[in-house]
Amino acid sequence: MKKKFRILIIGSGGREHAIAWSFTRDTNVEKVFCAPGNGGTASLAENVKISINDFDGLIRFVRQHNIDFTVVGPELPLSAGIVDHFDAEGELIFGPTQSAARLESSKIFAREFMERNHIPQPKFIVCDSLDAAREAQKTFGFPLVVKADGLAAGKGVIICNTESEFDTAMDQMFTRQVFGTAGERITIEKFLEGEELSVFAVCDGDTFVVLNTAQDHKRIFEEDEGPNTGGMGAYSPTRLATPELMSRIESLVLIPTLAGLKKEGTPYKGFLYAGIMVVNGEPYVIEYNVRLGDPETQVVLPLLKSSFAELIFASLQQELHNVNVEISSDTAVTVVLAVDGYPGKYPKGMIIEGLEECAHQLIFHAGTERRSDQTVVTTGGRVLNVCGLGQDLSSAIRDAYSSIGTIRFDHMIYRRDIGQRGLRYLLRKQDD
Ligand code: AMP
Ligand code: GLY
Repeated sequence: MKKKFRILIIGSGGREHAIAWSFTRDTNVEKVFCAPGNGGTASLAENVKISINDFDGLIRFVRQHNIDFTVVGPELPLSAGIVDHFDAEGELIFGPTQSAARLESSKIFAREFMERNHIPQPKFIVCDSLDAAREAQKTFGFPLVVKADGLAAGKGVIICNTESEFDTAMDQMFTRQVFGTAGERITIEKFLEGEELSVFAVCDGDTFVVLNTAQDHKRIFEEDEGPNTGGMGAYSPTRLATPELMSRIESLVLIPTLAGLKKEGTPYKGFLYAGIMVVNGEPYVIEYNVRLGDPETQVVLPLLKSSFAELIFASLQQELHNVNVEISSDTAVTVVLAVDGYPGKYPKGMIIEGLEECAHQLIFHAGTERRSDQTVVTTGGRVLNVCGLGQDLSSAIRDAYSSIGTIRFDHMIYRRDIGQRGLRYLLRKQDD
């Protein structure tokens, strides 16, 4: 009989709950552990109290519990070299090395890499001083985009429409240094106007499989108002992703990215998330992330019909070319239930009610904890992801929103327009 996998997932968000859910319904999987996990993973996997930064502790756990392979959710341990650490210890782990993770941990590395490898992207200038940035501003005019080089939890990208917005951005980067060393160097980029989509691929160093596409809703308020968040909802797939566009993205972006990294001595193994802006039908890379998106994973994985564990194991063996991936033709939507105040300061520890009444609904936990008395309380700004499925976007939206009225916790907020941008796009296409 074929051996069943014992898997460790690293992270504690909605993405990691979705990954754990996918593994636990997989007949190839024996047992799933999450370090540290959340209130949702507690009910289908075993949560382990080890910090995502305690690489030695994680290695000890993997050995004691005969883990076959480890899957990393968030970018921080990847950019801190968790994969190099596991590789050196001879333990299987799915993710890019620290060096390959620079695609996300350094925006300047990523831009210069794309330039070397002729991957389409907006024009950019690297600046390490206020004077250089002011010169670059003159080249681009407005609007333009200012990006801190290093990791800034999604907050290091500032779109400037006016001189005064640019001054504020410069003040944040160079004078007040709100992003610390991450903002010591910046890129200034041409602002691209178009439709955005995210592409998620599984890579084995040589080749890749596209899992699906998705569109995120980054702003906190409806109609894309207010500050950027980690993501307030998503849907998959996006109708922007026609077979023609996907084939351009593969040949212009994914193939040269993997080939370029291999040629430069840092072959890429892991999830690759390409943020693409489509301008007049042509793809440009806005950013790379070296992980799956959150909340995009919560819509991408429910549409994967074939085994996710087999797919990752095949990548680890560099045998991705032998795997058949089956993806549902349905649409998935997820709506994030968050706490009023997020992405700034917000209260914690509120009891969540109504989850049992929604047992029929696919709900992934993010910032939650299950207490010993089985109550579930909030521990983060993004709390739950309520997912809906349907044959098309409208029915998936209806399904996602149908249960939200049943769930209650103090200071709960959510966007009521998740997916509407996709519906508007479909209407425009019908009019064309
Ligand atoms: P990033 O963290 O690099 O994905 O940037 C956050 C968001 O800023 C993206 O999802 C885009 O909506 C926007 N953005 C970043 N760079 C550009 C650009 N060069 N042109 C237009 N929008 C951009
Ligand atoms: N939802 C955006 C991200 O995961 O980066």
